[in-house]
Amino acid sequence: MHQLIQLSERIWHMDLDYATDRPNLGYIQGDELSLMFDCGASPAHVSDFMELLQEHGLPLPEMAALSHWHWDHALGMAALKKQGIPVIACRQTDAVLGQVSSWEWTEEAMRERLRTGEEILFCDDFIRKEYQGDLSAIPRFCRADVVFEEEKTLDLGGVTAQLIHVGGPHSEDSVVCYVPEERFVFLADSAGKDLYGTPWDYDPKDPAASDLAMERMSDDPIRLREYREALERLGFERCLKGHAPCSSRSELIKELQEREARL
Ligand SMILES: [Fe+2]
Repeated sequence: MHQLIQLSERIWHMDLDYATDRPNLGYIQGDELSLMFDCGASPAHVSDFMELLQEHGLPLPEMAALSHWHWDHALGMAALKKQGIPVIACRQTDAVLGQVSSWEWTEEAMRERLRTGEEILFCDDFIRKEYQGDLSAIPRFCRADVVFEEEKTLDLGGVTAQLIHVGGPHSEDSVVCYVPEERFVFLADSAGKDLYGTPWDYDPKDPAASDLAMERMSDDPIRLREYREALERLGFERCLKGHAPCSSRSELIKELQEREARL
């Protein structure tokens, strides 16, 4: 069962779910508009989020912003569009979405993508878990409704959300959502390892060994340093990753510095 957790006066998030790798979903309530940060892994993930907002008496979001193209953040887009909620993404993310929108979710197509390396076993395994093996239920990736280049500031009324393309170690299209009034930043996966760009062994039958393999993956030193410097320019005190609980600025910067020191 998911929970909606209040992080500050205007910020909430629905917690992650390790079982199917669902990420945290953020919510920022303005006086005029509310924003959802990240689009969810599936229509079911989106509807769990909307139900929790309703239970807490919060208005449904007027718009959503996408952190990067990976399935667990983007496959909820189709459901959001159906509900008339436009999705905002950066140019780089939208370009990848354009490429992967042709992906078909059949056994044959999924196996072929694993064979060619377009897809990785880690994602293939968790997509199947999220959709309980029903490949016909997996929606296609779709394009964003609003596309920005490097930064876009949304005035939600009494609070702003700054969408900033930071790239970083995980995926070059990564966008963070910085809320200066609340001294908070949603990082999604941007601080993570490059799961698509670095070879690593994922074993669905051995989660502990897979976690260790992920932890031991190396980083690109320039991407990592530029990412840390970009974050240090933001005046946040707390942050939320896609697949971890809320943490402090100092914990995040220390983690990034330690990773840099190991390179
Ligand atoms: Fe990701």
